[in-house]
Amino acid sequence: LMAEKGGYKHFMLKEIFEQPRAVRDTIAGRLLDDKGDVYLEDLRYDDAALQSIRRMVIVACGTSWHAGLTGKFLIEEHCRIPVEVDIASEFRYRKPVIDQSTLVLVISQSGETADTLAALREAKSLGAMNLAICNVVDSSIAREAAGVIYTHAGPEIGVASTKAFVTQLSALYLLTIRLGRAIHRIDAAQGARMIAALRMVPGLLEESLALNPATEKIARQYLNARDFLYLGRGKNFPIALEGALKLKEISYIHAEGYPAGEMKHGPIALIDEQVPVVVLVPKNSAYEKTVSNMEEVIARGGRVIALVTAGDREAGARAEAVLELPTVSEDLDPILLSVPLQLLAYHIAVLKGTDVDQPRNLAKSVTVE
Ligand code: G6P
Repeated sequence: LMAEKGGYKHFMLKEIFEQPRAVRDTIAGRLLDDKGDVYLEDLRYDDAALQSIRRMVIVACGTSWHAGLTGKFLIEEHCRIPVEVDIASEFRYRKPVIDQSTLVLVISQSGETADTLAALREAKSLGAMNLAICNVVDSSIAREAAGVIYTHAGPEIGVASTKAFVTQLSALYLLTIRLGRAIHRIDAAQGARMIAALRMVPGLLEESLALNPATEKIARQYLNARDFLYLGRGKNFPIALEGALKLKEISYIHAEGYPAGEMKHGPIALIDEQVPVVVLVPKNSAYEKTVSNMEEVIARGGRVIALVTAGDREAGARAEAVLELPTVSEDLDPILLSVPLQLLAYHIAVLKGTDVDQPRNLAKSVTVE
């Protein structure tokens, strides 16, 4: 079994370390650098069809839903198409407003999640254009959707999704470029810049993985906490949600993700000397605001673990613990920030002695409602 795990103690850790390779495989053969465009072999919609899209709805469950939330930011910013993101078990029962000019994008690692499959069928019956981001080739969702973007993460065994998530984010970035080029919202030069940035991600993921020992040390410091908060803004807010979900899933510690600016409307009441608060504060357009949200936590005695951009000496100065991350662009920071959050959840769970790869009450793929 150790051999199956490639020498790692758990599948989850192996899969976290496979992420540079996984993203490399997701983007391989798809980047048209000189055209500043992307080739998606099974998209099945040509430029004219893509130009007819007036609205998008992204539907998924769990970790895949978090990827969709970040996708909304990417697509709305670069393509100026309104995007709604819904949880599959909600979407299928709420009589969604859908027509032929709506593109419904379902995201599913397994391609077998019952609620997501039902949501896809509902969208199709309403005449929507439809597309899937899937990891498992020939899965039910991949077969039934009009188009598919495979993530090529390779088989994911750990119940807590890791490499599937970062490849979903990569696939959403690819889709953003393709869509933006087709509808003339992204020109060739900008497409080329976005592609050049994406090409750096596998190497930068390797650098993020070098935080493993430092993250384990932090895990030892905080493993007895009863609750955790995760704060981020913009594209990194869904990453805060995902960090909290990882911790809940495998360590059974209660955790919540929040948009940092919303903290003053409730969760700040939870802050005391017992509560670790993980703050995602890379150098981006929301940097100053996020730093001030972090200061509010510190002023109330909260124990801040800050994820900052490498070389930033300011943001982390008053935090209890700091992890410095490489950066390439605001659009791609969510991918790099995911790594230390996965590692933090992993090490806390291992130290607590839980069954990391098969956490209680959870299934890898939920094929019943
Ligand atoms: C289960 C898994 C999660 C996963 C979710 C959606 O709950 O435990 O890790 O995110 O299903 O799965 P999917 O295969 O549709 O992405």
